[in-house]
Amino acid sequence: MPAVVIVGAQWGDEGKGKATDLLGSRVDYVVKFNGGNNAGHTVVIGDQKYALHLLPSGILSPGCVPVIGNGVVVDLSVLFEEIDGLEERGIDTSRLVISANAHVIADYNRTMDKVAERFLGSRKIGTTGRGIGPTYADKMNRLGIRIQDLFDENILRQKVEGALELKNQILTKIYNRRAVEIDEIVDELLSYVDRLRPMVADTPLLLHEALAAGKTVLLEAGQATLLDVDHGTYPFVTSSSATTGGACTGSGIAPTEITRVIGIVKAYATRVGEGPFPTELFDDDGEQLRKNGAEFGTTTGRPRRCGWYDAPIARYAARINGVTDFVLTKLDVLTGWDQIPVCVAYDVDGERLEEMPMTQTGFHHAKPIYEFFDGWHEDISACRTFDDLPRAAQDYVSALEKMSGARISTIGVGPDREQTIVLHDLL
Ligand code: GDP
Ligand code: IMO
Ligand code: MG
Repeated sequence: MPAVVIVGAQWGDEGKGKATDLLGSRVDYVVKFNGGNNAGHTVVIGDQKYALHLLPSGILSPGCVPVIGNGVVVDLSVLFEEIDGLEERGIDTSRLVISANAHVIADYNRTMDKVAERFLGSRKIGTTGRGIGPTYADKMNRLGIRIQDLFDENILRQKVEGALELKNQILTKIYNRRAVEIDEIVDELLSYVDRLRPMVADTPLLLHEALAAGKTVLLEAGQATLLDVDHGTYPFVTSSSATTGGACTGSGIAPTEITRVIGIVKAYATRVGEGPFPTELFDDDGEQLRKNGAEFGTTTGRPRRCGWYDAPIARYAARINGVTDFVLTKLDVLTGWDQIPVCVAYDVDGERLEEMPMTQTGFHHAKPIYEFFDGWHEDISACRTFDDLPRAAQDYVSALEKMSGARISTIGVGPDREQTIVLHDLL
């Protein structure tokens, strides 16, 4: 009765969507356990490309039940837009199940996200502006609106009133915005109720029963380890738990049920938004990585910051998540360099550190110490076995495996499902 977790090992956009889709036909449930429509998971199947934001990538696998877990924050307008978009393309979304305890992103949370970023000025986080932070803040403040609250109009009204009491003061007196009307919010949320009701369930119970019946459950993270609110580069993080611990709290599946943790890691590194990034490149190499890897955000279209592989970060992700297997993605993007630098340690104010510095200041000061590996010029996108790869690419992968804290079980050599080299089965 395996529960398998997929997490991002860097700053997001490692290719979690493709990895989830690869396993989709062999699992019974795919659960999104954290985040919301700040995520952008691209799945390429033949000539079809799907960009999923709120829905778990398992929605594309017929026969698999996609679940939005209690740890997710749900923007209902985006939910139904995404469902309608997929239905129009012939994807059956009728199996989708949503936790009654998932929180709802209300319109005022989107507003608060945007005005707060503007207010922060140069200290901004570079959020996706989807209302993620304010919605999780409401959850922790015990002012959140949950999916189940929509089914009792009285309760809903009381809760919206409670949430707006302080927020309207902040919006009008600090941000100089108009106050939000309670009715406006309640009416919008109630407009979704009829469509929503049949999808809602006690998902922890559902998943527990599924595991007890020997079904396979895949837990798909949004964001990544370095964006996790506890373990990431705080405060330049998202507001949810994007690591394996979050897979338990965000789904209601106990830690003892988890049999495998798959860390998705790019063969180089990218980051969207603000925050420290030791191996970031500001030169032609960075531009080339962005171009070769099509590194533009799936959600906001922002160019992603690009840099070389950072082994201390991969090791950190392996430890924090208990990674059993890495999926190394986008190896094909590195084709064409004579030499490929890999960050093996940091120089922090003159001291060599093998692991992530303990403090934020230390990480801001961290300068990468590089080791150089031979590159390759052959097109590897048609390689399907490790032996098909040029010698230098094999050596690069083996070197990363040695320094990254877990075995590399799968290698991505292109965006398509088929462009994958399997070394060890992931299930
Ligand atoms: P996610 O957020 O972790 O699911 O990743 P994204 O979908 O935001 O970004 C990864 C991008 O890389 C997507 O456009 C994928 O189609 C693409 N991709 C995934 N694996 C590979 C690979 O091995 N090679 C190449 N060239 N592209 C890949
Ligand atoms: P996937 O699942 C990359 C980043 C934002 C910003 C910070 C906080 O596709 O890997 P938020 O809107 O969450 O409050 O923004 O986190 N961020 C992501 N970066 N991939 C993502 O998701 C991200 N989700 C949020 O750019 O820096
Ligand atoms: Mg993404």
